[in-house]
Amino acid sequence: MNERLVIRGGRPLRGSVRASGSKNAALYALAAALLTADPVTLHNVPRIADIAEMAEILRALGATVAIDGAEARIQARELTATSAPVDLVAALRASFLTMGPLLGRLGEASCPPPGGDVIGVRPLDVHLAGFRALGAEVKREGPSWVARAKRLRGARLFLDYPSVLGTVNLLLAAALADGATTIVNAAAEPEVEMAGHMLNAMGARVRGHGGHTIVVEGVPKLHGVDFTVIPDRIEAGTFLLAGAATRGDVTVEGAVAEHLDGLVAKLREAGAEVELREGALRVCAEQPLSAVQVQAVPYPGYATDLQAPMAAMLTQATGVSIIHERVFENRLLYVGELRAMGGRLTTGGQSVLIEGPTPLVGTQVRALDVRAGAAVVIAGLAASGETQIRDVIHIDRGYANLVERLRALGADVERR
Ligand code: UD1
Repeated sequence: MNERLVIRGGRPLRGSVRASGSKNAALYALAAALLTADPVTLHNVPRIADIAEMAEILRALGATVAIDGAEARIQARELTATSAPVDLVAALRASFLTMGPLLGRLGEASCPPPGGDVIGVRPLDVHLAGFRALGAEVKREGPSWVARAKRLRGARLFLDYPSVLGTVNLLLAAALADGATTIVNAAAEPEVEMAGHMLNAMGARVRGHGGHTIVVEGVPKLHGVDFTVIPDRIEAGTFLLAGAATRGDVTVEGAVAEHLDGLVAKLREAGAEVELREGALRVCAEQPLSAVQVQAVPYPGYATDLQAPMAAMLTQATGVSIIHERVFENRLLYVGELRAMGGRLTTGGQSVLIEGPTPLVGTQVRALDVRAGAAVVIAGLAASGETQIRDVIHIDRGYANLVERLRALGADVERR
């Protein structure tokens, strides 16, 4: 629990690393497995804490889940509960994704407002309004949200915001509804698109996934599937930014370039060389980097999950960079940690101004959430001296075998 990451920085990262399966997409795939009584086999599942927690939640609902390396076998032959246990839900935002499948399959679902990173208000109105529009009665009972419907009826849904989990929850609910559902202003993230592909492979009729209008023709039943989770674009992007920040040369095997347009554009604008290969992305940043402006917005815009890691990299770029965080209202907490390391960062509202280049110096910092944690790791790799990162548990939620993989790239890092 009190483990720290200790990084002796200042070495350029060099070499290649393989992208893991996507954390978020794997969470959606686990939730989708609740929609069928048949066995579901998932490949390329990352070995991270969030997945273990979601597996625990599925088990509490009556499913069997066996995880062996990167393979997960799930069978929800019979669901024995309509409610995810409160203590498990507390730590994991994606636990609310049990609502859509349970409601669609059993006609009843309940879940307390979930936990997860403290990066903003993170409301649930998109999910709840969508369930209501599909014909469910939704109310608060004690600590939980409860939704009931004898049978969901397809409807035209307008999302106030293209919420990622909101879109997936409604997609999962609509898969077994009577009639057609159109989700307008849907999230277009690749992980949402993948959820649509997986549902279709289970016998659902989804189209438009990956765009902002998704149409789901409800079917009475879904069947099992053998499905491979897409590579994690956020993890891949974190390694590329670490490569750039340390003025190194890093290849991420398995990264999908089309999922990282925003990052590739900004790395190039900053003066790094980015090579798009078949099934791999390489960044080489041996020349000095220059300041850029970045806006974190919904996909296909620059990803909010790569906003903090980008800020760490930009401490090493010449000039004044500006980052605008437009998705979450409380996602600049890492700024204090980077300042403690010598970074010159100023915040105003949802924006951060970064003056660089500044030599960073190792000190004691905290991983405040999973991506803020990635930012201090990148800063530690670029800093001189020893950086000690506390609350590693946050980093473990999103990055599998980070120490081993950074070492393979030449970093001097250990867990203590
Ligand atoms: C997911 C990802 C997270 C990523 C985020 C944005 C998971 C487990 N997490 O989180 O890594 O950073 O997408 O890409 O997949 N909002 C509403 N009403 C709602 C729900 C959300 O207004 O009902 C707003 C939020 O306040 C926030 C914005 O939508 O400002 C984005 O949230 P959302 O897309 O829902 O993020 P998550 O799905 O929670």
